[in-house]
Amino acid sequence: MKSKLVIGNWKMNKSFEEAEDLISDIQDKLESWSLQTAVVICPPFPYLELATDHADESDFEVGAQNCSEFENGAFTGEVSASMLAELDVNFCIVGHSERRKYFHESNDTIAKKIDQLMKQNLIPVFCCGELLEERKSGNHLEIVEKQITESLFHLSKEHFEQVVIAYEPVWAIGTGETATPEQAQEMHYFIRSLIEKKFGTETAYNCYILYGGSCNAKNALELLSQPDVDGGLIGGASLKSDEFISIIEAAETVLKED
Ligand code: 13P
Repeated sequence: MKSKLVIGNWKMNKSFEEAEDLISDIQDKLESWSLQTAVVICPPFPYLELATDHADESDFEVGAQNCSEFENGAFTGEVSASMLAELDVNFCIVGHSERRKYFHESNDTIAKKIDQLMKQNLIPVFCCGELLEERKSGNHLEIVEKQITESLFHLSKEHFEQVVIAYEPVWAIGTGETATPEQAQEMHYFIRSLIEKKFGTETAYNCYILYGGSCNAKNALELLSQPDVDGGLIGGASLKSDEFISIIEAAETVLKED
C-alpha cells in the first residue's frame, strides 16, 4: 500500500506567535516518531518562511494556500509560484471552494495556476467538490468531473503525476457535517476511474486523492480506511496540534493494519 498524506490548511488563522507555537508543537510531536505518513502544513503567506525553517529540521513539508495565475509583473497583492519555490515551499493548494466562492475563481483560472506551479516543480493540491444543492439534485459526480476535466486534463501525463487531488464537498467544510465514508469512497473511486480513463491504471493508482471537510480526530480513522481515500486535507482540526497529530495517528494505524 502507498503511504498516506495528511495536509493541514490553516486558512487565514493564527498570529505570528501562535503560528510559531503550533509549528514547534507539531515538530516536537513528530520528532519521536518514525512516520510513514507524509505531513504537510499550509500556513498563511507571512508564516511560510517560519514554517520552512522548521521543516528543514523536521519530518513535515510546507505548502502555500494559493498562488497567482500570472508569472510576474504588475499584479498588486499577488504571490507567484516562483516566489513560493524560492522559499522552499513544496506544495500549493489551488481551487479551494473558498477561493471559488469569495474570489470567483473559475476552472480555467485554476488551470492557469496549476501551469504556473508546474513550471516551478511545485505540487498542486487541487480541490474539487460539489455544493449542497448539487449533491441534493444528484449532480455531484458530474460537477466534480467538470472541475477535474477543465482544470487538470490539459496536463501531460508526466505533469499530471505531480498533482494531488483533494475532494472537499462544500457542504462539509467547516460545518461539522462530514461526508459518510461511503459518500467519500464513492467519489474517490469515481475520480480515480476518470484518471484511469485519461492516463491509465498506474497513474490512477499512484495519484493521491485526499478527503477534506470536517475531518477530525474522531472520524479520521473511518474515512482514511476507505480504499480510495489516500489522506486528508484538514482545516479546523489542523489548528490544534493534538487534534492534527491524532489524525496523523489514524493514518498510521490504517497503514499498519494493511
Ligand atoms: P474543515 O476541516 O474546517 O471542514 O475545512 C476543510 C478544508 O476546507 C480544508 O481545506
